[in-house]
Amino acid sequence: MKQWMKYTAAALLAAAALTAAGCGGSGDGKAEGAKKSVAVIQIMQHGSLDAANKGVIDQLAKRGYTADKIEIDQQNAQGDQSNLKNIASRFKNAKPDVIVAISTPAAQSVANEIHDIPIVGVAITDFETAKLVKSNQKPGTNVTGVNDRGPVEEQVEMGLAFVPGAKTMGLMYCASEVNSEIQAEQARKHAAALGLAVEEATVSNVNDIQQAAESIAGDVDFIYVPTDNVIASSIPTLVKVTDAAGVPVFVGADSMARDGALGSISVDFYKTGIQAGDMVADILEGKGKPETMPVQDPADLTVIINKTNAGILGIQIPEQYKDAVLVD
Ligand code: TRP
Repeated sequence: MKQWMKYTAAALLAAAALTAAGCGGSGDGKAEGAKKSVAVIQIMQHGSLDAANKGVIDQLAKRGYTADKIEIDQQNAQGDQSNLKNIASRFKNAKPDVIVAISTPAAQSVANEIHDIPIVGVAITDFETAKLVKSNQKPGTNVTGVNDRGPVEEQVEMGLAFVPGAKTMGLMYCASEVNSEIQAEQARKHAAALGLAVEEATVSNVNDIQQAAESIAGDVDFIYVPTDNVIASSIPTLVKVTDAAGVPVFVGADSMARDGALGSISVDFYKTGIQAGDMVADILEGKGKPETMPVQDPADLTVIINKTNAGILGIQIPEQYKDAVLVD
């Protein structure tokens, strides 16, 4: 074949691909060449969710979707249910090409309201139990994403490793977060299997945390808190009470240890954001639809220990965690 013919064929193919993307891509009647748009909803600000958010945005940029190429509408509900509702209705009207939902409550609010726009969830404990998908393998809804199922059993065992003679585990979470319910049930079962009694204190909002912690601090040898959005947003309030009582707190996520709890074995939330960012880019490029894109698992785990808190509690770091990431 002559050189010029090759070029022409390539150019024609490229043109055809562009036309296909422009006309058939989203099928939403938007003007050809209009900027793609991604809308992000996050329940509140705390370290893990912010890290997941950044991972998504960084990976979108890596895939060519920089801020000048697509519109990114970032919305944070500041922990307020009615804000979640308002943001969801706004997204419904704005019709972005893809919605990114960070945390279970945020994903539930958009998934309840919107059924015809792809939703990619991240920092979500369990898509199935939260009724976001029919199954993780084959969502069958407009929702897919990356879960953040952490090693609840190992997190509970961390408590026993730090407090070898422990008899009673405290368990704290917000009763209205299904993500926490799931982990609480896992923690309860595992504590029982380890021969630990469990004393629970649930909260409905941040204002309950101090009193809930005070109600159990005197009776327990350590406290376990899963990746609960309400408690994660107020770790210093919790730790003030538990430090005074000499009770270590083990948590579901690294950000909570950075905020003052003693330790965690945590999912890397930034990396889950990167995974989710790839899923968003694939959807934007027409390479997949949530209905048939399996929910992904997080990649690695990190042991993290707050050495300032260990100092305050006068606790030694057990040998088995000598390679942990230490934070102040
Ligand atoms: N897993 C939580 C959810 O499903 C979100 C979350 C991720 C989280 N990391 C966290 C909550 C850390 C508290 C702390 O909504």
